[in-house]
Amino acid sequence: MVTTPIKIEKRLTIQTVDIEPDTTTIRSLDWDRDRFDIEFGLQNGTTYNSYLIRGEKTALVDTSHAKFRQLYLDTLTGLIDPQEIDYIIISHTEPDHSGLVKDVLELAPQAVVLGAKTAIKFLEDLVHQPFEYKFVKSGESVDLGKGHIIDFINAPNLHWPDTIFSYDRGTGILYTCDAFGMHYCDNNAFDEELSAIERDYRFYYECLMAPNARSVISAMKRMKKLGEINTVANGHGPLLRHNLKEMLNRYWDWSNAQTKAEKNVAVFYVSDYGYSDRVSQAIAHGIIKTGVAVEMVDLRSADNNEVHEIVSRAAGIVLGMPPLSGNNLKEITTNIGTILAASKEKQVIGMFESYGGDDEPIDPLLTKFREVGLKKAFPSIRIKDNPDEATYQLCEESGTDLGQLLSRDKIVKQIKSLDTDLDKALGRISGGLYIITAKKGDVSSAMLASWVSQASFEPPGFTIAVAKDRAIESLMQVRDRFVLNVLEEGKYQNLMKHFLKRFKPGADRFAGVNTQTANNGSPILTDALAYLECEVVTRMECRDHWIVYSKVSDGRVSDPNALTAVHHRKVGNHY
Ligand code: FEO
Repeated sequence: MVTTPIKIEKRLTIQTVDIEPDTTTIRSLDWDRDRFDIEFGLQNGTTYNSYLIRGEKTALVDTSHAKFRQLYLDTLTGLIDPQEIDYIIISHTEPDHSGLVKDVLELAPQAVVLGAKTAIKFLEDLVHQPFEYKFVKSGESVDLGKGHIIDFINAPNLHWPDTIFSYDRGTGILYTCDAFGMHYCDNNAFDEELSAIERDYRFYYECLMAPNARSVISAMKRMKKLGEINTVANGHGPLLRHNLKEMLNRYWDWSNAQTKAEKNVAVFYVSDYGYSDRVSQAIAHGIIKTGVAVEMVDLRSADNNEVHEIVSRAAGIVLGMPPLSGNNLKEITTNIGTILAASKEKQVIGMFESYGGDDEPIDPLLTKFREVGLKKAFPSIRIKDNPDEATYQLCEESGTDLGQLLSRDKIVKQIKSLDTDLDKALGRISGGLYIITAKKGDVSSAMLASWVSQASFEPPGFTIAVAKDRAIESLMQVRDRFVLNVLEEGKYQNLMKHFLKRFKPGADRFAGVNTQTANNGSPILTDALAYLECEVVTRMECRDHWIVYSKVSDGRVSDPNALTAVHHRKVGNHY
């Protein structure tokens, strides 16, 4: 294998690796991509992976992000004369992979673009010049020679409606683009070290794939009909080879768990319009945190009957406003009509504008849903500028509010269904009273906690159990920093009352509260008895909670003679 790192500036590099005979990956390494999309929350950068397959004919699978234009094109032309490219396979048309298709086509006008029918339509809008193309779908293949027969399968909604996977019978490589990917950037082209990447793999799944769990299962069933897969050549992060079976099994298990949720919400968006897909993903992520499943549906390409079926079985609807004009307007309008016709009383609804420049107004449509009897789950989200971290926090918290609204009956039932002896005994486990405060970029949050326990002397460390649907959970990923504020016996009521309030999505938790800023940037509550500055080391999943183990770097007590407030409970089946 040959690795050729070429550096153009501090944090954008490119790498080429021969991964199998006749097969080379061109990996664009984006070391410090900003967190402007929700799934980049772990901040380990990302890669955009493109591939060259050279049989008697040559195929290029995907390209790269436009920010790599010169570097990518220089690398590509260093590997091959573009005039020799016969096919460009488009896994899907999101610009981080197809952003340079136009440039490659200028160098290789003879190349035939292979993609799903929807992808070619989207690409025409992106390229704005005629090009040769061929639609491909499940069951079809193209023969590149030298044994490289490429089989295609449709994998819609993973995560765009136009996604296809391509399987090379000659090498056993399956090209999946976003599916089975992760935002993780380093020089290892493969997944040698599972422990280094598994958190990012899971986080990426939760943000991008969990809302499409049914589609993941459908695609994986189609994958079983292909030949033996020895490598998943994804579009982001290290390629899966060393831990392939394990990584595929995780997708299968996580997706099956999602589809078993008692309730689900249909989230409608318009792909490639404003920030509709990103906003809908953030809302979906917030919903999934509450244990409610999500089905994402693209209004531009969804089948009308399918839309009817999805709305009929959903407990809730989230609708991103479509454009008033432009492509696919007929399909979109028909689908909106179907959503309205299929919606029914007792469902809940949330709506958002996506800053597409031409959004249909929310209120008239919302009024129609309210007339049918649907309950508004969160204040409508109106995005008036490029989304930032605070926008995504607002969206995620709105989704969580919607999910909690749907789960409320179940929780009340759970609280009422006491197993007296067991629950009373469990209730005798007591803890102190604490408030966790965190700030990350423009986003801050806080949470009352009592499931806190010291867990190590060296380094000084402790664990906190954080319910999965807590807003602050998103700010407590590995390496995130926060403050643990210890409340004082006899003097905790005001703080406790304030932080037990139900905050609206995106609301400032610290309004009217005295704070100082810790060295790590998080708020310290001035009226707390003590504080500890902490950094998350690791997280363990425990069904409905995360156990977050953190090390402590600094701390102070205001009154050494005061005692920590203690939380006594009667039963252990709720807080
Ligand atoms: Fe990595 Fe959907 O683009």
